[in-house]
Amino acid sequence: MTAPQTTSPAGSFAAKRGFIVWFTGLSGAGKSTLAEALRRQISGGRPVEILDGDEVRTHLSQGLGFSKEDRDLNVRRIGFVARLLARNGVPTVTAAISPYAEVRQEVQRLAAEEGVPFVEVYVEAPLDVLAERDVKGLYRQAMAGELQHFTGVSDPYEPPVRPDVLVRSDREHVDESVARIVQALLDRELVTATVAGAVSR
Ligand code: ADX
Repeated sequence: MTAPQTTSPAGSFAAKRGFIVWFTGLSGAGKSTLAEALRRQISGGRPVEILDGDEVRTHLSQGLGFSKEDRDLNVRRIGFVARLLARNGVPTVTAAISPYAEVRQEVQRLAAEEGVPFVEVYVEAPLDVLAERDVKGLYRQAMAGELQHFTGVSDPYEPPVRPDVLVRSDREHVDESVARIVQALLDRELVTATVAGAVSR
């Protein structure tokens, strides 16, 4: 995304326990940028892990494609690792398109069954803005018919009906979006404010 990096001090908040922040949204909407910025904000206590779609597809999901079956499998794997980390006290942020509502709900349900708090963040940006920005050059290829099953162009994206946080990444500064996500975490008592490096309990 083109918005400038966050300028807030790193680690102004500390996680009190493990939980999952699940970003969903189209390619290029800003999920990875927001995940990194969120990590900087809440890394005042324990380490925070990020499971990024592109990185997961290089390692954990190498060989998977973009059919519904493969995407659902990818999302289930990300959900499995995120729950594993979170239930052992590691706050975990995921950043995959995760286009299908049903499997997102399945991951959320499994987290709830394990007592793992789950915060869904929908990173929304209009398709024409993403296609114009086209950081990876994939929208151009998809629109030219050179790349099949591209989310938002020739493959579905099912937006969350009631996300915990809705981010409009084309209109909001990264800091503003992160502040609203942190507020949602504060509201659920998942993070606490830190003062000059100290953690208030
Ligand atoms: S998901 O649908 O399984 O959640 P994921 O987030 O892991 O997707 O991977 C999406 C990334 O793969 C995109 O950001 C883009 O860089 C790349 N990509 C390659 N082909 C496609 C495609 N057909 N649809 C969406 N993304 C694709």
